[in-house]
Amino acid sequence: MAKLPKYFLWGGAIAAHQAEGGWDADGKGPSVADVMTAGEANQPREITETVEEGRYYPNHVAVDLYGHYKEDVALFAEMGLKAFRTSINWTRIFPNGDDAEPNEEGLQFYDDFFDELLKYNIQPVITLSHFEVPLNLAKNYGSFKNRRVVDFFVKFAETVFERYKNKVKYWMTFNEINNMMDYSNPIFLWTNAGVTVEEGEDAKQVMYQVGHHTLIASALAVAAGKKINPDFEIGAMVSHVPVYPKTGDPANVFLAEETMRMRYFFPDVQVRGYYPNHALKEFARDGIEIPFLDGDEEILKNGKVDYLGFSYYMSTMVDKYAPLTPTNKVHGGVPHEVENPYIERSDWGWAIDPIGLRYTLNRFYDRYQVPLFIVENGLGLVDEFDADGQIYDQARIAYLRDHIEQIKLAVNEDGVDLMGYTPWGVIDIVSFTTGEMKKRYGMIYVDRDNEGNGTLARSKKESFTWYRKVIDSDGEDLA
Ligand code: BG6
Repeated sequence: MAKLPKYFLWGGAIAAHQAEGGWDADGKGPSVADVMTAGEANQPREITETVEEGRYYPNHVAVDLYGHYKEDVALFAEMGLKAFRTSINWTRIFPNGDDAEPNEEGLQFYDDFFDELLKYNIQPVITLSHFEVPLNLAKNYGSFKNRRVVDFFVKFAETVFERYKNKVKYWMTFNEINNMMDYSNPIFLWTNAGVTVEEGEDAKQVMYQVGHHTLIASALAVAAGKKINPDFEIGAMVSHVPVYPKTGDPANVFLAEETMRMRYFFPDVQVRGYYPNHALKEFARDGIEIPFLDGDEEILKNGKVDYLGFSYYMSTMVDKYAPLTPTNKVHGGVPHEVENPYIERSDWGWAIDPIGLRYTLNRFYDRYQVPLFIVENGLGLVDEFDADGQIYDQARIAYLRDHIEQIKLAVNEDGVDLMGYTPWGVIDIVSFTTGEMKKRYGMIYVDRDNEGNGTLARSKKESFTWYRKVIDSDGEDLA
């Protein structure tokens, strides 16, 4: 079977707040993730005002990558990874977000971590903001509702670009910048942007105001990064859930198209450098005011990204004749959503659709003609040890295999320009949406449970050896 090119960045991905722990170590300040309790599949995480005594906050210790990074990187190297995606925890560098000077101990941690990766020829792929907005900015500035926070973000970006300019080539500005469009669920505005919708505020207006500020922050960071090192590759990162029409009824086909184009809203601006017309029409119709300042059009034009990174976990489907409000049975988070009978779901209800990945790669590439990078994909599973003390995670292997098959078709048959593939959570980490440990994505098991018990010991799952073989054969051997 066909291979993927030699330059292809086979890797794995995590986010700092879900893995590092050390939430208050060496000068780190609290972030929005540090006030989120644990939930479950059907019980949302709670966002508390401050860190409350007696509550359990799973991100505080997470899987203690902060204390285990050498051991973990050695395992990543043994797995054959060529790239590793993580984020720089903003509050390790600027504990309050508005500090005059960065925290040297935080900067030093990432120096050491990146050196360790580079020692094994693993390229760091770094997200600047992955749900780690400083709590102080959220509480005392209104976070990205407030234009001043753009300046704090840009200062953070410039600080780390300058510090790691000879260690990191691949960057992304905001993780899943577009998932706050599902503003009916408060977790997304909070984690993406540190924002809550207050009484009397219109959630849609808030979202687009915040959206504009994050888009400006992203564009300013891209321009600043290019000045610091013109060889940087700085990308966008969006969550992508393709939307299918339930039937060939033209009304359904067009509804799917309309829903999809709003999914493209953020990447349209980040890749093309301007707002799409359909969005401007919608804003005018709905009375949404975008806080455009003089010069913003130029900022967006001068801050276009080099590539489009995206996460892909599932697809969804819409039916014009179904209720407007999502049922919450389907996790695409769009109006008129219905279950797709052709598609199976994970234990957490996420639709498993490998062909949807090929479809996504093609639609993105047709639309933008810039390199693409799949920076998240994977299956959350409950892993159990067999009698022989091993984890045989065949379902995870099957999921990854089926998706890699589709990636190969997109690259080799369709001609899509794809930089790499970093499946989510190569090592078990805390789930973002539920805060659980038992929703595992890793190929490396970590002994830690939902209540925070466990030794934190690492062990290899069957997928570990399988992925090594896939990488060694450039994707040819998927057996
Ligand atoms: C993406 C996020 O939304 O999905 C990750 O970028 C997250 O941070 C991943 O962990 C999977 O979601 P979950 O809830 O299964 O951890």
